[in-house]
Amino acid sequence: MAETMTGAQVAGLQRDYVMQSWSRQGTPALPIARAEGIYFWDYDGRKYADMSSLLVCSNLGHQLPEIVEAIKEQADRMCFMAPAYASEPKSRLAKMLVDIAGADFYQRVFFTNGGADANENAIKMARMVTGRQKIFSCYRSYHGSTNGASNASGDWRRFAAELGGMAPGYVHFMNPNMYEDGYTRGVDDEAVTRDYLHRLEEQLQYEGPDNVAAILMESIVGANGVILPPKGYMEGVRALCDKYGILMICDEVMTGFARTGKMFAWQNFDIRPDLITFAKGVTCGYVPLGGVIVSKAVSDYFTDHVLQCGLTYSGHTLACAAGCASVRYYLDHDICAHVKRMEGILKPFLERMVERHKCVGEARCIGLFAALTIVRNKETRELMAPYHAPDSVMPRIMARLKEKGFSTFGRETNINICPPLIITEEELNEYLPILDEVLGWVDETFCD
Ligand SMILES: Cc1ncc(COP(=O)(O)O)c(C=O)c1O
Repeated sequence: MAETMTGAQVAGLQRDYVMQSWSRQGTPALPIARAEGIYFWDYDGRKYADMSSLLVCSNLGHQLPEIVEAIKEQADRMCFMAPAYASEPKSRLAKMLVDIAGADFYQRVFFTNGGADANENAIKMARMVTGRQKIFSCYRSYHGSTNGASNASGDWRRFAAELGGMAPGYVHFMNPNMYEDGYTRGVDDEAVTRDYLHRLEEQLQYEGPDNVAAILMESIVGANGVILPPKGYMEGVRALCDKYGILMICDEVMTGFARTGKMFAWQNFDIRPDLITFAKGVTCGYVPLGGVIVSKAVSDYFTDHVLQCGLTYSGHTLACAAGCASVRYYLDHDICAHVKRMEGILKPFLERMVERHKCVGEARCIGLFAALTIVRNKETRELMAPYHAPDSVMPRIMARLKEKGFSTFGRETNINICPPLIITEEELNEYLPILDEVLGWVDETFCD
């Protein structure tokens, strides 16, 4: 469709007619005219580097010809076929996903429309397989905004879903955030892991482990600030699951598809989840798609029992065509290896920011998945934005970055840096100095 509106008209209609997520309505939204590679442009022709891959989904950047062509070709042939029928893109993609997860352990994929419903369906499956009700999940987490996924989420975004009464069977436990908890990474890992696992096991005991169907966790907590677990923690959670016959669900919605330098972030640890939920990077957002990859054991359960899950658009043909093209691109171009190379630039840069700036408490980076903890006082570790504080200065920091062409997001007291995985060394070296400059401004303006 040719552009027929001005940017002001587009923004005006959005302001007046679109219900905007997680915002007071009427908040202005920047109208975007086009996107390509790691960039997008507004209607005034201003260029922005997409340093967050939008919502950590545009892993292969914008308008990648291989994905666009696959969508066009599929659209010409058949846009959609119902889930009860087999279609080439769906069949192919399911096998590709099982192969990258590990065909020795995983068997099948249930496709959904995005991340929240991937988690909803994983939760349902875990309950059906175990015959147990309770789902354990972390306070420091986000799993989506549908009712079950909201209830499983730990951050404040679950509160609205709880207005209807908390859904039964959801139990939250506190997961470690070494910096905010006052520890030193690389020094205190063992003690923190031991302490947090002890508390988790205690909580399982008090809830009755025989009542617990699954522990649902982001393999690495994303939106709440790329919280890297202390060494041994994920392995310890897996061991508790094994001990009590609990299924482990790893939410790979944000971390999947090469984001951390592995196809799935759980592959950074010595664990194998029973169910893997995914979305975002599977199609890079070009067409919405999500799903659950299940182990052979979970799959086997449903050969004798009916899978009571279904969605009109499960395995959407066009979305799966985009998925096949995306997964093929990750593999053919060894995007994981490229991400590891780019980590070699991003990680030392962020570590320099910790040394250089009063406002940077900690940097965390694995692959191209990174965040800075912004503090008001480095000595006391006083956070720039206390948890769920109203009117924090963080949106001003994000706005300042965006004004300078560096687009990203942050939640609470973090700035996330998660550029498209195809970013080059030159592009990183061009844009990271903007972050340095803005952090200097934060030092002067907001730090003690
Ligand atoms: C870890 C995680 N899980 C689930 C979701 C929800 O995905 P969706 O917005 O596609 O429903 C998100 C979204 O950001 C996420 O980061």
